[in-house]
Amino acid sequence: MLNKITVVGAGNVGATVAQRLAEQELARTVVMVDVVEGLPQGKALDQWQSGPIEGFDTRVVGANDYGVAAGSELVVVTAGIARKPGMSRDDLARTNAGIVKQVAQQLKQHCSQAIVVVVSNPLDVMCWVTKQVTGFPRERVIGMAGVLDTARFRAFLADAVRVSVEDIDAMVLGGHGDTMVPLISHTTVSGIPVAQLLDRATLDQIVQRTRDGGAEIVGLLKTGSAFYAPSAAVVQMVEAIVRDKHRLLPCAAWVEGEYGLSGMYVGVPCKLARGGLEQIVEIELAADERAALRKSAEQVNESMAAVKI
Ligand code: APR
Repeated sequence: MLNKITVVGAGNVGATVAQRLAEQELARTVVMVDVVEGLPQGKALDQWQSGPIEGFDTRVVGANDYGVAAGSELVVVTAGIARKPGMSRDDLARTNAGIVKQVAQQLKQHCSQAIVVVVSNPLDVMCWVTKQVTGFPRERVIGMAGVLDTARFRAFLADAVRVSVEDIDAMVLGGHGDTMVPLISHTTVSGIPVAQLLDRATLDQIVQRTRDGGAEIVGLLKTGSAFYAPSAAVVQMVEAIVRDKHRLLPCAAWVEGEYGLSGMYVGVPCKLARGGLEQIVEIELAADERAALRKSAEQVNESMAAVKI
């Protein structure tokens, strides 16, 4: 258990993350920070009062400044706005980069030793902004996208094969967007290569639905975007770090030559332990997967170019 974890942004994703962190007692104190007055305080009070029922002693507190967050060992950044109709991807990147920059400046000042898990979108660019502004090493700035994309992929596969989701082992790499790269060549059902159980057309459909996973939910909700699976994905990463599990999970990490890529954030297999990112694991990819990863990285680079820090 850590002493203090802070969640910046007490919206749908942030508040659900806070509740899950408390339920798993991953820290003695969970702090929610948001710019809206009363919002983090109200949600924190409500969550803390679920403790006697759920059986946790974690204290959840809310604030509009970073005083209470000072000294947090881990911070989850969910602050930002959702893409509005008519807004381009680059417009969203610029707006959220401004928000994440402000947050990162505060973290540098008040939580200088924290491991930061970034969730705000566009994810890979927001990770870069956080790393640049805080000056933290790559071990301490990691992005959540791959665990969520992989969870969607596993759910769809389990449904098609008609097996438990627990039996699907898979990984989705690349940038968090339309160019993400589900690794069919490394996907197994209890050790059996998935291509032996599903035909190519079905697999292609599942890959496409995974790529459109976020949009499918936005289309149904009309306002707002997914938050149950995203918050579960964040907490899986946080748990791996807090409990020093050395878990191998797909995360957005700052690459320095791995997979032939450098100077950017992209989804790659990462070992997470108490210090944050312990290692980027390089695995052999099929030729088409390697090409898709490169293409995905190009898109991240274009997005980065649209933003000035
Ligand atoms: N500091 C702190 N909080 C902020 C700031 C800021 N500078 N700017 C905005 N916020 C807060 C908003 O007040 C809001 O409560 O961030 C919260 C965002 O919550 P939602 O709008 O509910 O968005 P959510 O669904 O939680 O998504 C948050 O995660 O998955 C990504 O694409 C998603 O970028 C988005 C982020």
